[in-house]
Amino acid sequence: MRAVEFQTYGGPEVLQVVQAEVPEPGPGQVTIDTAWAGVNFADIKARAEGYRVTSLPHRPGLEVSGRIRAVGAGVEALRAGQEVAALVNGGGYAEVVVAEAASVFALPDGLGLRIAATVPTVLPTAHALIHEVGRLRAGESVLVHGAAGGIGTAVGQLARAAGAGAVYGVVSTDTKADYALRHGYDEVFRADTFAEDVRRATGGRGVDLILDPVGGDTLRRGLGALAVFGRLVSFGNASGAAPWQVGQPELYAQGRSISGFSVLALAQSAPGAVRALTEAALRAVAEGTVSLPVTAEFPLSDAAGAHRLMGGRTSTGKLLLRATG
Ligand SMILES: NC(=O)c1ccc[n+]([C@@H]2O[C@H](COP(=O)([O-])OP(=O)(O)OC[C@H]3O[C@@H](n4cnc5c(N)ncnc54)[C@H](OP(=O)(O)O)[C@@H]3O)[C@@H](O)[C@H]2O)c1
Repeated sequence: MRAVEFQTYGGPEVLQVVQAEVPEPGPGQVTIDTAWAGVNFADIKARAEGYRVTSLPHRPGLEVSGRIRAVGAGVEALRAGQEVAALVNGGGYAEVVVAEAASVFALPDGLGLRIAATVPTVLPTAHALIHEVGRLRAGESVLVHGAAGGIGTAVGQLARAAGAGAVYGVVSTDTKADYALRHGYDEVFRADTFAEDVRRATGGRGVDLILDPVGGDTLRRGLGALAVFGRLVSFGNASGAAPWQVGQPELYAQGRSISGFSVLALAQSAPGAVRALTEAALRAVAEGTVSLPVTAEFPLSDAAGAHRLMGGRTSTGKLLLRATG
């Protein structure tokens, strides 16, 4: 079978198509004939700087859709031929993928394989950010960095569905601003001025919830743009800044709080919680509450093309790799 791997860290050109043995499922696992693999910013970070990479060569890819090829010992609820979506701990850029059965989801009626591939990382994360960790209440305002990307597109719609009073986004280009405004955002700001823009838009009050995948200076300025009792959820470090540290001086005076979320870390520590999030996300997609448009697709052999688009900060919505053909 074909798979995409890298032997050294670097630009998109380090991604190589290789021939590999078809894997067999171990106990509690299944193998999946991949139809589509999702592309995530974490894949770019893995390739460029080794994010979550334990050894080289490394095969990136955190989510796939496809049909179950073989079922390992002890797996009762899944059968060969079933159409599924799966969250995987690496290895998704391949024609056959091994997945833990606990992270494999049968598709609801009417949900096709192409749309299903957009679900496993972004939608449970977006759901957790709005509902479980961010605890957005009806009428509250929310500010989302990276508003035109995969997470940003889903979060804007979920915030609106949860009854947000105002949904603000932060993006880097005019094209992304137009896109975000078509996906649930009321107003869209730029990174260098977002804190002042928030104060203006909220009459000086600040926002109730900030969702921050950037870190560093952006996170620090965001804390200052929160309303009294405001919450900030850190869920990424796109800026590559040193890990943030926040203490009493930033939090006590206005009753602010800061929390964090990683779907990959949660899948290791509490797979049942990720399962519940994913089932809620699949229902939301099937019911039409949220949709994540696929804005570009690439053959598996051109994974580098997808990485150029997302790494060049020019992508919107969701990018997919097509594993067949
Ligand atoms: N914690 C979790 O469980 C979890 C799960 C999935 C994703 N994430 C994080 O959520 C973010 C979005 O992920 P995605 O896969 O949906 O990707 P994406 O949003 O489709 O694409 C990457 C995003 O990163 C932003 N970006 C790129 N370089 C940046 C920089 N140097 N500084 C600030 N922003 C930068 C871009 O926004 P602009 O060009 O508009 O700034 C773009 O929206 C990523 O940071 C990712 O690591 C976290």
